[in-house]
Parts: sequence; structure tokens; C-alpha cells
Amino acid sequence: MAQVQKRNRVPLLAGNWKMFKTISEATALVQALKAGCAGISNREILVCPPFAALSTVRDLVRGTNIRLGAQNMHWQLEGAFTGEISPVMVKDAGCQYVIIGHSERRQYFGETDETVNRKTKAAFGQTLIPIVCVGETLAEREAGQQLQVVEEQVRGGLAGLKPAEAEKLVIAYEPVWAIGTGKTATPEQAQEMHQWIRKLLSEFGNGAEQKIKILYGGSIKPDNIDMIMQQPDIDGGLVGGASLKAEDFSRIIKFIG
Ligand code: PGA
Repeated sequence: MAQVQKRNRVPLLAGNWKMFKTISEATALVQALKAGCAGISNREILVCPPFAALSTVRDLVRGTNIRLGAQNMHWQLEGAFTGEISPVMVKDAGCQYVIIGHSERRQYFGETDETVNRKTKAAFGQTLIPIVCVGETLAEREAGQQLQVVEEQVRGGLAGLKPAEAEKLVIAYEPVWAIGTGKTATPEQAQEMHQWIRKLLSEFGNGAEQKIKILYGGSIKPDNIDMIMQQPDIDGGLVGGASLKAEDFSRIIKFIG
């Protein structure tokens, strides 16, 4: 595929189901998705269901081209943290990936660059691949601060990572103003930020920035994914709303770019 040849980074299309789908709804969605994306091997396909559906989805995707991720976790391995889930449990549930620091977690649950950093390190401790989310608010973009805001999030969230870990990372750039709003960043706005993030990642040395996948997220839909994926520094998508419909997510996975 053109994308793979272009940059040697296999595109990753990740579905963030957020707080949607009961176990029976999750089952129906995954069955339809399995049919919709059977035989695709040149793209990585990931679903991140709510915790309650993880083990059901794990059993359904076993032996398929669909991988499993969690939407959040604590950084401690275990302990008296009512309502939390540990990296060990996420791994045990069959996850290979975990989303860290989604803007909804930052906005509603007090996540900071420091907790993102702890969780990112904890993910590597369990050989989970963290998908670290960054992105500016509308006010920050309107004030022209977006590059600086994202730089702080990248530096804070990834502080102290070893280069060997860093190169396994996935970053998701999700402008807050584009999430669930139907408003996507233009491909040029997204490319500018992805290029900036890749430049920052080059500080890890050893060409790490060429290995790290940087996903775009925010109102990805079947009708805008092709344009988004044509950008040289965009390696895939973190998809919310459109990942809840098998048909839409399958089309997104099959982007033409
Ligand atoms: P959206 O969500 O695709 O519904 O905008 C993306 C996300 O929050 O990851």
C-alpha cells in the first residue's frame, strides 16, 4: 500500500468506544467489524471497548486481525484505589494497547501531564503500548498557542522515557475543538502539528521519531479519512463516534491514501 511504502509505519486505525456499548452491543459490533475488515493485513486495527466488555471482546477477536486496547488505567500495579484498574489487569484482560491522557480524562477527571507520564511508564512496565493523547483547546488555538501547548504536553507526558521505550510509543493528536463536534482540523492544520510533534520526538535520538506512530483524532468519518491519511506525518486515526458503527469504521480502516 502507498502509505506503508511511503514511511514504513504500518497505519493504525483505533476505535475509542468511550462509554458506549453494553456487552451484547459490543458483541454485535465486533462480529460485524470482523466481517467488514476480514483479510486486511496491511493496517493495524484496534478497538478500545469499555472495561466491562474487554474480556468478551478479547474472546471474539482472538485469532483475527483486530487488536484490543483499554481506554485508561491507573499507574499502580495494585492497591486500595476504589474504582480504578491497574496495568496488570489491563494486560491480563488481553490488551496490547492503552489510551492515556485522552482530553476527556484531562477535562473531566483531572488528568495532568504528570499522571499521563506515570501511566505511560506503567504501560511500558507491562509491555502495553501507550497511545498518549495531546491536543489544544479552541481558546488555545485562537490565541495561537497550539504548538506551545502541545509541546508542553509532549514533554511532560513523555519525560524520562528511555529511547528504547519511546520508539514503541503511539501519540494521538486530538484537537479538543474537533472531538465529537463534527469539526475536523484541516489536513494542513493536522499535518503542521504532526510534523511539529515528530520534530520534538527526534530529541529521543536514534531515529525514534521515524518509528513512532502519530495518529490524528477528532471527527474522523468515512468521508474525510482519505484526505487526512494523505498527509505524510499522519499514521492513522483515533476514532470515536464513527467507530461505533461497523460499516463506518470498516470504511475508515480501508482508507485510500
Ligand atoms: P470523535 O472522537 O471521533 O467522536 O471526534 C475522537 C476521540 O475522542 O478519540
